[in-house]
Amino acid sequence: MMKILSLFILLLLVPVHVRSLNPPLNDDVLGLIVFKADIQDPYGKLVSWNEDDDSCCNWVGVTCDPRSNRVFELVLDGFSLSGKIGKGLLQLQFLHKLSLAKNNLTGNLTPVLTRLENLRDLDVSENSLSGSLPGDFFHQCGSLRSISLAFNEFTGEIPDNLSSCSTLASLNFSCNQFSGSLPSGLWSLEGLRSLDLSNNQLGGEIPKGIEGLNNLREINLGRNKFTGVVPDGIGSCSLLRSIDLSFNSLSGNLPNTMQKLTLCNNLNLRKNSLVGGVPDWLGEMRSLETLDFSDNSFSGQVPISIGNLQSMKVLNISMNDFTGSLPDSMNNCKNLLAIDFSQNSFTGTLPGWIFQLGIQEVLLSGNRLTGSMDSPLSSSLDNSSKKLLVLDLSHNAFSGQIPSSVGDFSSLQVLDLSENWLDGSIPLDIGRAISLKQLRLDKNSFVGTIPTSIANCSSLTSLILSRNNLTGPIPAAVAQLTNLQTVDLSFNRLTGTLPKQLANLANLLSFNISHNQLQGPLPAGGFFNTISPSSVAFNPSLCGAAVNTSCPTVLPKPIVLNPEPSDSPPGSIPQNLVRKKSVLSISALIAIGAAAVIVIGVIAITVLNLRVRSSTSRSAAALVLSGGDDYSRSSTTDANSGKLVMFSGDPHFSTGAHALLNKDCELGRGGFGAVYKTVLKDGRPVAIKKLTVSSLVKSQEEFEREVKKLGTVRHPNLVSLEGYYWTPSLQLLIYEFISGGSLYKHLHEGYGGNSLSWNDRFNIILGTAKSLAHLHKVNIIHYNLKSSNILIDSAGEPKVADFGLARMLPMLDRYVLSKKINSALGYMAPEFACRAVKITDKCDVYGFGVLVLEVVTGKVPIEYVEDDMVVLCDMVREALEEGRVEECVDGRLQGNFPADEVIPVMKLGLICTSQVPSNRPDMEEVINILELIRCPSEGQDEFM
Ligand SMILES: *[C@@H]1O[C@H](CO)[C@@H](O)[C@H](O)[C@H]1NC(C)=O
Ligand SMILES: *[C@@H]1O[C@H](CO)[C@@H](O)[C@H](O)[C@H]1NC(C)=O
Ligand SMILES: *[C@@H]1O[C@H](CO)[C@@H](O)[C@H](O)[C@H]1NC(C)=O
Ligand SMILES: *[C@@H]1O[C@H](CO)[C@@H](O)[C@H](O)[C@H]1NC(C)=O
Ligand SMILES: *[C@@H]1O[C@H](CO)[C@@H](O)[C@H](O)[C@H]1NC(C)=O
Repeated sequence: MMKILSLFILLLLVPVHVRSLNPPLNDDVLGLIVFKADIQDPYGKLVSWNEDDDSCCNWVGVTCDPRSNRVFELVLDGFSLSGKIGKGLLQLQFLHKLSLAKNNLTGNLTPVLTRLENLRDLDVSENSLSGSLPGDFFHQCGSLRSISLAFNEFTGEIPDNLSSCSTLASLNFSCNQFSGSLPSGLWSLEGLRSLDLSNNQLGGEIPKGIEGLNNLREINLGRNKFTGVVPDGIGSCSLLRSIDLSFNSLSGNLPNTMQKLTLCNNLNLRKNSLVGGVPDWLGEMRSLETLDFSDNSFSGQVPISIGNLQSMKVLNISMNDFTGSLPDSMNNCKNLLAIDFSQNSFTGTLPGWIFQLGIQEVLLSGNRLTGSMDSPLSSSLDNSSKKLLVLDLSHNAFSGQIPSSVGDFSSLQVLDLSENWLDGSIPLDIGRAISLKQLRLDKNSFVGTIPTSIANCSSLTSLILSRNNLTGPIPAAVAQLTNLQTVDLSFNRLTGTLPKQLANLANLLSFNISHNQLQGPLPAGGFFNTISPSSVAFNPSLCGAAVNTSCPTVLPKPIVLNPEPSDSPPGSIPQNLVRKKSVLSISALIAIGAAAVIVIGVIAITVLNLRVRSSTSRSAAALVLSGGDDYSRSSTTDANSGKLVMFSGDPHFSTGAHALLNKDCELGRGGFGAVYKTVLKDGRPVAIKKLTVSSLVKSQEEFEREVKKLGTVRHPNLVSLEGYYWTPSLQLLIYEFISGGSLYKHLHEGYGGNSLSWNDRFNIILGTAKSLAHLHKVNIIHYNLKSSNILIDSAGEPKVADFGLARMLPMLDRYVLSKKINSALGYMAPEFACRAVKITDKCDVYGFGVLVLEVVTGKVPIEYVEDDMVVLCDMVREALEEGRVEECVDGRLQGNFPADEVIPVMKLGLICTSQVPSNRPDMEEVINILELIRCPSEGQDEFM
């Protein structure tokens, strides 16, 4: 250290004498050691710099000229050096290149350039150097070729002497605080190829005379305070590749000379005050790849010649006053990646090329575009639709519906259709756009429900559907979208209760459901503990702390979250029926009351009608209320009185007087209606399904035709339909009564106390397969297969219920259908979410496959375990792949099963749940396979 200090003092005070010392000290070693002594080197990058060395040519960062052995280059980029650049470097008289970029150096740079006469490249970018450059800073720059002071804190004006640096090719002063106007001598640097003065405080007009820079490749004056016009002479810089004048206050028109810039690939004029039209000659600038005219005051139409710009990748003309339609000629711009035409006054319809060129970002918001999205979208169904990432059509006047082909945009991350005139329902296919992060459909006129398929969009962070006319419940599926941050469903007509699981959405920042008709308790926990009252306001029946209303104790549970079957099939008696009766919930009482009011209306008229005809016959509806022992036997088709038909023509039934509906004997409710048990005069019990009227708007003729068809379907493994009752407002289906409880209860609620043996289970699987095969033979799709729809009779035979009801829906709409059967989530074949795939009887095969796995494992198809969802078929498939499938078999079989039957049966179940319908076997094949599986172990009684 003493040596350094003494050298330093010597150097500063008596430099002349230092050189004459004997033995002569190397100037370069001395200079570098002094430089090192001035700075901090926290990571010891310069330890190899040793003052005892005779030569510094092997030191890190140092390169010497082999002939003179003098230091030629010093490159210390990114060494984390801090402190000031001292005078030591002035010793390096032969230095050509000095690069100290990306350090933490402070102080100013004054002496370096003025004294190092041989310096050609100077790079001190990305430090914290400051101060202004003195007037003579460029005094000695006779050999300087490139200088970068970028990303420092230099202030003051750029010295005029710069014009003396006649060899300068590259000047980079970007990201400093330079101010004042440009030195006029700048344009005399004929060798200049690259000029970057961006991000400073420079102002005034851009001086004339730029045409002198005929070597200029790149000019960046962006983010300064330049005023005046774009200089005319710029067109003479014919080698220009990149022009950036963005974020200034330039005004006037585009100079016509620019058309000569045929090599220019980047033109950025964003955020200035440029005016006038974009001339036709724009099409001459054929190398353009990025063109940004955004945030100016350009007007008029976009010239057709823009179609000549075939290298164009990014075109941004947003925030101007452009008018006319989106130019069709752009069809030729095959390389486009992003277009931003937002916030102009474009009119006309959406051109097809938007979706045909494979563009990734399409931003057209805030214009006056009209027409439907349908035809341009539907005409683009090829691979190009897979590339779209962002589609923003918000704030226009688009109308019509969202086409289902929106689901083909499998990479789409942002879909913004807000503030248009769109209507119709949100297509189920939205669930195929699985990359969606933001979905904004607010301020339109959408109707219908929020599709449950939204659960497939698992990356969703924003879901904004406010200010539409959406109805129905908030699907529990929303709770599976764990990335959700912002949800706005306000100002709709949503009903029902909020799924409890919403409380598990850990990333929620806002959840606005105000101005709806939601009811029941707010979810407890998580975000919902601190939800702001305004986000939930104006839902008269919502309860919980945030709305200052306490909740009644018993409330209906949301469908999917409730593992109990809500759709009890005809004939099954809920085990806890008796218990349930005594604790009927308030809401159930209200529901019964409401039903009663409707029924009373029907009765009143019916009674009047029947009185006229016969004083002895009474109305069916009256019986509904009385719970007494009457029933309607009218066979008229009068609009107000009922028509009862028993397929068997049972004489007891048609003459007796028994109750058809007895509300005390309600067995359950489901998507298609409530089920009651009743006993005929002859003592025979039947199950009666009261169909939900609103879902069945078919005419009486159609209703009767379908019911009669279902009535002819007879099979030992099907619950048979015995008759029906029809009035315009009340429709009943009369079924055979099966006493043994549903398969669901046997498997999951321990019905009857004994668990099913393997043989029982195999029989149930086989019987169910046979019933489905029979249905398919007569062209009936069940649509709603699930364990709660399979009843077990006293002999242990399965009887499949509830088949074919979907045929009575007004139309076989998969949306309505999946809504009706959504309590069967987990059994529903994937093609329900996919409009492009026809729904065939293979959807039953899928449900059957799930059922098989359920029967073998004793587990429900989808199980919610804390915040996780276990999908049965995935679990079994995984276990099979890992060779531990036997672990999945129901523990209640206690190892008492033949593996050579059980494992093939599970594999069959997995094959039946293939994603692709055509990969699933048909039910006849399933039966054959099952019988083959059964044969080898026929005699193994010990397993029963
Ligand atoms: C510069 O110094 C700051 C703290 O003074 C430090 O956080 C930063 O990492 C340093 N940068 C470099 C490039 O060493
Ligand atoms: C540098 O500029 C100063 C004043 O701005 C002037 O006096 C001096 O002659 C110039 N020197 C050179 C070499 O251009
Ligand atoms: C100027 O320097 C900065 C920082 O090193 C760099 O990012 C920028 O690209 C340079 N400008 C030009 C035109 O090379
Ligand atoms: C287009 O420019 C505007 C404003 O200058 C900007 O906000 C927008 O992000 C740009 N669009 C694209 C696609 O880069
Ligand atoms: C919603 O529907 C009502 C009645 O059908 C209608 O008056 C209203 O304008 C609709 N609102 C929207 C936002 O479409």
